[in-house]
Amino acid sequence: MSRTPLLAGNWKMNLALDEAVQLAAAVVESCRGLAGREVMVAPAFLHIPAVARVLQGTSVLLAGQNMCWEKRGAFTGEVSGPMLKEAGASMVILGHSERRHVFGEDDELINRRLRGALACDLTPILCLGETLEEREADQIFEVLEGQLLRGLGGLDPEEANRVVLAYEPVWAIGTGRTAGPEQAREVHAFLRSVLADRFEKTLAESVRILYGGSVNPENIDSLMAEPDIDGALVGGAALKSESFDRIIHFAS
Ligand code: 13P
Repeated sequence: MSRTPLLAGNWKMNLALDEAVQLAAAVVESCRGLAGREVMVAPAFLHIPAVARVLQGTSVLLAGQNMCWEKRGAFTGEVSGPMLKEAGASMVILGHSERRHVFGEDDELINRRLRGALACDLTPILCLGETLEEREADQIFEVLEGQLLRGLGGLDPEEANRVVLAYEPVWAIGTGRTAGPEQAREVHAFLRSVLADRFEKTLAESVRILYGGSVNPENIDSLMAEPDIDGALVGGAALKSESFDRIIHFAS
């Protein structure tokens, strides 16, 4: 089963508007002539329309960093799926570690967001990851299985097949510590086995699972050499055009 690699930049709450526009233009340049891989950027909500204008007519995909499960209504501070789509996004990051740990989002809330994304035809990237305490207490598989099954709760196979997963160990985000390729390999294979049990083997083999957490130009090749790693969700290294360019051009 061939899965197209996805290299995704999560810009988080960074960059001024003009910097976001310049970075988007640099990503477009980086993607010229690129074949067999997909590239995505997730700017801050307010920067999405301007970035969408830069990306228009190119292959670079655009994502929101979160979204509300409802299409409209009294949800102060939220952004809806139709708003994201209208602005030019086709994907949305959900359940990011910072949403879970800084803003207290739980699996039930993330599942609602995810079903909302599927309902308006946005491709969700569902993020999962254990904390250092959970890893040290040997709870990693239990934690990840719970996040995955609750996150995908209520989905039928056709819907689950449209989800992209991102394994982002909390202790590796923004710390310079990466899960080694073998640690990531073990987790990605585990997530696929959970998908196979919950849905079916063919689905488990077609869902893309990205790795995230201190991905950089130095470690991207060894991570992408792992057959079960289908791409990367990149924070800090996606904010500089040279390092993201190198990541996009990982050695295959
Ligand atoms: P860093 O690449 O900065 O560790 O961030 C990873 C991340 O959270 C991507 O969503």
